[in-house]
Amino acid sequence: MSDYAHEFARSTDDPEGFWLDAARDVDWISPPTAALDDTAAPIYRWFPGASLNTSVNALDRHVAAGRGDQDALIWDSAMTGTVKRYTYRQLLDEVARFAGVLTAQGVAAGDRVVIYMPMIPEAAIAMLACARIGAVHSVVFGGFAAPELATRIDDAEPVALVTASGGLEPGRVIEYLPLVASAIEKAAITPRTVIVKNRDEVPGSAADHDGWLDWDAEVAGAAPAEPAAVAATDPLYILYTSGTTGKPKGVVRDNGGHAVALTWSMKNVYGISPGEVWWTASDVGWVVGHSYIVYGPLLVGATTVMYEGKPVGTPDAGAFWRVISDHGVVALFTAPTAIRAVRKADPDAAELAKYDVSSLRTLFAAGERLDPDTFTWASKVLGVPVVDHWWQTETGWAIVANLCGLEPMPIKAGSPTVPVPGYRVEILDAAGAPVAAGGEGNIVVRLPLPPGTLAGLWRDEARFRASYLNTFDGYYLTGDSGYIDSDGYVFVLGRSDDVINVAGHRLSTGAIEAVVAAHPAVAECAVVGIHDDLKGQRPSGYVVLKAGVDIDGDTLRTELVKRVRDEIGAVATFRDVTVVDALPKTRSGKILRKTMRQIVDGEEYAVPSTIEDPAVLDALIDQLGH
Ligand code: COA
Ligand code: AMP
Repeated sequence: MSDYAHEFARSTDDPEGFWLDAARDVDWISPPTAALDDTAAPIYRWFPGASLNTSVNALDRHVAAGRGDQDALIWDSAMTGTVKRYTYRQLLDEVARFAGVLTAQGVAAGDRVVIYMPMIPEAAIAMLACARIGAVHSVVFGGFAAPELATRIDDAEPVALVTASGGLEPGRVIEYLPLVASAIEKAAITPRTVIVKNRDEVPGSAADHDGWLDWDAEVAGAAPAEPAAVAATDPLYILYTSGTTGKPKGVVRDNGGHAVALTWSMKNVYGISPGEVWWTASDVGWVVGHSYIVYGPLLVGATTVMYEGKPVGTPDAGAFWRVISDHGVVALFTAPTAIRAVRKADPDAAELAKYDVSSLRTLFAAGERLDPDTFTWASKVLGVPVVDHWWQTETGWAIVANLCGLEPMPIKAGSPTVPVPGYRVEILDAAGAPVAAGGEGNIVVRLPLPPGTLAGLWRDEARFRASYLNTFDGYYLTGDSGYIDSDGYVFVLGRSDDVINVAGHRLSTGAIEAVVAAHPAVAECAVVGIHDDLKGQRPSGYVVLKAGVDIDGDTLRTELVKRVRDEIGAVATFRDVTVVDALPKTRSGKILRKTMRQIVDGEEYAVPSTIEDPAVLDALIDQLGH
C-alpha cells in the first residue's frame, strides 16, 4: 500500500488514533485524551477538554527550542521598497506587547476584535496578540468598503477595532480612517477602542479622531501579556465569507483543531520543515492568508514571507521571482490569477532569467481552478512541480491536494489530485444518490469533517445547518460541483450556487445584485459570473429599467459601478452593465442565472422545462448570444 493510501485509510478507519497522533506535534497546556466529540452530531467538536495557546505554539515554543534568532516573518513591501525582518524572539516580543495593549484596554478572552489592515506586519501581530489572550479576531479584507465593514462589526460585536492609516494600491493610496469612521457610524455597535498603526505613506492618524489610540504610543508603554489557557474548542477567529445572500457568513475556527490540522498540513500537504522559507502571496483578509501567511508557517517554525505588492506592475512581472530569489523561498503559494497576470505581461518569462530561483521546490496554487494552460506554462518556465489544491474558507485547509510531504502523485492537469486524509469526498446527484466515477454532481464530504474545519457560523447555528448540513444527511455540502475519475482524482468544475470567484476572491452575486437593484432606475437585475481570461470570472450585470425611465447606458453604468465600489468595494471589479428588456425566469420566479451565464460564455445549455416565457430567453440569446 502506498504511503498516501495507508495514511488515508488510517484517517478514516481510526480517526481517533490518527488525529491524536497528529496532536502530539502541538504543545498543549492540557493534552487531549479524546479526539472527537460526536455527542451533538451532525455538529462535531475536536479535542474536547484539552487546552492550549495558539500563539505559544506559533512563537514561544520555537524560541524555547532555540529558534529565537531565526527569522519568523520577512515583510517585503514592493509598494514601499522596504524589507523588514522579525526573528522569532522579536515577533514574540511584539505580539506579547500588543497583547498587553489589548489587555490594558480591557479586551478579555472571548471578546471579539476586528482587524482591518493592509499587508503590514502589524496585521499578523494583531492576530497573534488576540490568540495570546484568547480574544477572537475577525479580520476584514482591506479592499472592502465601509458598509461591508459595518456589517461585519454588527455581526461580531467587537470591543476593539485595530486598523492602520491605510493601504497602498498601485497608483493610489487607500485612506482607511475615513472608511473606519463611516463604518462605525453605520454600524449599530461601536467598538470601545480603536487602535491605529500609522503609516508615513498614508495621511491620517489616530490623533484626528476623538479617543482613538496610536499603535506605537500604546505599544511603547505596554507590559507584555502572558498567554492565556484556551480551550481547544474555543474560537480563535471569525472570518466572513460570501454566501449566496448579501449577508456574509461568519465562519468560526477553533483553536485546537486548527493548530493540529495546520501543523499536519504544513508537513504533509506542503512538505515544509522548520527553518525553511515559505511564501504565500495572498492577503491576510482571506482564509489563505490566515492559514498560510500567519498561522501555518509559524506553527511549524518556518519563516513566512509577507508580501505587500502585486504579481505585476510593482514594478514588473519579475516581482515574484525577485522575492523568491531575495529570500530563498522554497515554496510559493498563490492564486492562478496571479500566474496568469505574470504570463500575460511576460509570456516568455524573460524576467525570470534575471533571478536565481533555484531555491524554489514547488509552486502551490489554490483559490480558483488552475486551468491546464496556466498549469502547463508555469510548469515549463519554472521547471518545478506546480501543485493545485482545492479548499474553502469553511475548511481552512486543503480538502483535495497532491500531498507533497507524504507521497507526491502523478499530476493530472485540471485536477487538484486526491482527497486529503481526514476528508471522505464523494459525489452525489441532486437526489442524494452516489454518482459513478466520471459523472458530475455535488461535491460533498462525509461527516465528520477533520479538525481545523469550521466549528460553525458565528451565532447562527440555523444557517450553519441550512447552508452545509441539511441538504444531504450525513454530509457537508461544499457548494462546488465536479467529478471523481476512475483513479480517484477529484475534478472541481465550479460553484453550484450563486457564489462567484473573481481573481481568487469569493464574491456573492446576490450582494452585488442588492446594490444594483437599489438604483432608482432599475426595476430588476441579475448579476452572473462570466468567464474572464485573467481573473477566471468577473461579475456581469443585466438590468431591466423601470417603465418610463430615460437614462443613457453610459450614465447608468457609471452610476452602478460607483455604487458597487462604494457599497462593496473595488475588489468586486464590477464593470459590465447591459440593459435588457426582461430576465428569463422559471415559473416560480427564479432567474435563470446559470442559463444566462452559459449563453454569454458561448457554452451549451439546456432550456429548463420550468421556464416561464421562452420568448424572453430567445430575445436574450439574440442580444447576448454568440
Ligand atoms: N485594498 C483596497 N483596494 C484593493 C485591495 C485592497 N487590499 N485589493 C484590491 N483592491 C482594488 C484594486 O486596486 C482594484 O481597484 P481598481 O478597480 O480601482 O483598479 C480592484 O480592487 C480590483 O483588484 P484586483 O482584482 O486585485 O485586480 P487588479 O487589476 O488590481 O490586479 C491581479 C490584478 C491579477 C494582479 C490581482 O487580481 C492579483 O494579484 N490577483 C491574485 C489574487 C490573490 O492573491 N487572491 C488571493 C486568494 S488565494
Ligand atoms: P474561498 O472560500 O474564498 O477560499 O473560495 C472557495 C471556493 O473557491 C471553492 O468553493 C471553489 O469554488 C474555489 N476554489 C478554491 N480552490 C480551488 C481549486 N484549486 N480548484 C477549483 N476551485 C477552487
